[in-house]
Amino acid sequence: MADEFEPKILGILCNWCTYAGADLAGTSRIQYPPNVRVIRVMCTGRIDPAFVLEAFSLGADAVLISGCHIGDCHYIAGNFKARRRIALTRKVLESYGFDPRRLKMTFVSASEGALWAEVVKDMVKTVKKLGPTPVQKKTNLVAAGHAAVSADDDLAEIAKASAGKKLEAAPVQKN
Ligand code: FES
Repeated sequence: MADEFEPKILGILCNWCTYAGADLAGTSRIQYPPNVRVIRVMCTGRIDPAFVLEAFSLGADAVLISGCHIGDCHYIAGNFKARRRIALTRKVLESYGFDPRRLKMTFVSASEGALWAEVVKDMVKTVKKLGPTPVQKKTNLVAAGHAAVSADDDLAEIAKASAGKKLEAAPVQKN
C-alpha cells in the first residue's frame, strides 16, 4: 500500500497568542497531527509576504499563519496589517496556479489550546485533499524532460525581489 501523503505545513505563529496556545495544547496533551513546523515571531505584523513565498518555493505544501484575535494584538494593529498582506499574498499565489487554501490565517489566543488543535486538524485535512505542492509537480515535469517553467523559480524570484519591501493593501475606503 502506498504511503499516505503527509503534508509539510509551515506555521508562523505570534509569540503572545497562538504560540502560547500551541504550547497549551502540548501541555494539556491534546492530540493533533504533527504536520506543522513552527516558526515563532513576536507578532503576525512581522510576517513579510516574502517569508510565505520562500516557504512555498522551498517545497512547503501549505503555510498557516496564526496570531492574536483582532483587537487583541499586543502591538495594536499588527494582525490587521498581516490580514491584509495575507489576502494579497493569496492573490499572488493564485496567479501562480496555487490553490489559495494553501495559505491560511487564523486567530488563536493563549487560552485556546483546543482550538489550535482543531485549526491544525482542519488544515491538514484540507491540504491532504489538495495533494502535494504544485512546485514539486512542476519540478517533476522538468525532471521528466518536459519544457516547463518551474513555479519554484518564479516564487523564489518574487521572494528575492520583495524581501525587505512592504506589501501593503490599498487603503480601505471609508463610507
Ligand atoms: S502580538 Fe499577536 S498578532 Fe500582534
